[in-house]
Amino acid sequence: MTRFPLEQFRDISTPFYYYDIDLLQSTIDAVVRASSRRRDFVVHYAVKANSNPRLLRLIANAGLGVDCVSGGEIRTALEAGFNADSVMFAGVGKTDEEIMLALEKGVGMFNVESEAELDVIISIARESGNVAPVALRVNPNIDAHTHHFITTGVEDNKFGIDFELLDPIVEKCLKNNDCIDLQGLHFHIGSQITIMRPYSLLVERINDILKHFEGKDVAFRSINVGGGLGIDYEHPDEHPMPDFEAYFDVFDRGVPCINGRKIHFELGRSIVGQCGSLITRCLYVKQGIKKKFAIVDAGFNDLIRPALYQAFHPIQNLTHRDCQNGTYEVVGPICESTDCFGENVTLPEVRRGDILAIRSAGAYGESMASCYNSRRLPGACMSNELT
Ligand code: LLP
Repeated sequence: MTRFPLEQFRDISTPFYYYDIDLLQSTIDAVVRASSRRRDFVVHYAVKANSNPRLLRLIANAGLGVDCVSGGEIRTALEAGFNADSVMFAGVGKTDEEIMLALEKGVGMFNVESEAELDVIISIARESGNVAPVALRVNPNIDAHTHHFITTGVEDNKFGIDFELLDPIVEKCLKNNDCIDLQGLHFHIGSQITIMRPYSLLVERINDILKHFEGKDVAFRSINVGGGLGIDYEHPDEHPMPDFEAYFDVFDRGVPCINGRKIHFELGRSIVGQCGSLITRCLYVKQGIKKKFAIVDAGFNDLIRPALYQAFHPIQNLTHRDCQNGTYEVVGPICESTDCFGENVTLPEVRRGDILAIRSAGAYGESMASCYNSRRLPGACMSNELT
């Protein structure tokens, strides 16, 4: 259970992200324990979930690989100590400069999303005398029943290559083997997936596709199943980490690891989601005719998930825990009505100056922050750096 050192928070300028490093470390340990018991499983941390360098160093030290979606993420990951050959370089819109950078640094894999992208990689790799390791991202057409803004694995979105279009692209890779090393296939079905059924469907789909290519004498040394494992936003203290064993088990039982084939994972939210909270101060309590507003100093520029995905984040009053409860709209200072962290939130009476924690904000919180309204970016404070 995350403990908040309220005394020390008083001296830190709000809003800021607070990271429970013990929880992060035990989550990483659980991932490493559960994955390393399985044959040939390789876990890559999805940097987009949180690219704070201090967290990245901790994750790199545990020996995890990394999943990057831009040149900037590749640089940040390498600086934090991840090995270049552990980098999975993904993204539907890699620029020529990013492709060159990735070749120069020697990334472990390009997750290729279209034939047009493959053509550019072929020409850049050939011209620079490199061989690009490639996995083709296949759109598995599986509905993960997650929020429609973060669904990725169905036919009508921009990600991956439809299976029906795959054969000639595989052939093109094989024909250009002087500069393309076709190692595998990549999948990703969406994010914040809390049931295992979509993953079982993915496993079935992967096996069908592998069989199809075995019939053509094409074998893949690497299968990347992406990320997406969800966390319990409703109960962060009761469920501080997801069931990694059950998750890895689906793939352990389902995908054959023959001839040293590796199964790669790209986990983001499940690793960093629960360790982070956005700490904010109440500026004003405003009584309306129907509603009472707790106006806090964090805005949607600091944590955009509620505004963008109607995402739920638990909110706690850290200053007053034992007062009588009130019902609040917890809102930020930005001049847009979506700048709201929670409606009808029951909290011990909130007063000006109270410190609130917006929980389960370690993933896609700090990394999606912006300077909208010319506000400063939120700070970050690690539990192990406080005395
Ligand atoms: N691999 C690929 C190809 C991805 O697109 C993603 C996330 C991941 C791995 C990591 O997924 P995770 O394990 O973190 O679910 N901003 C949204 C989430 C967007 C996810 C984008 N892709 C949110 O705040 O919920």
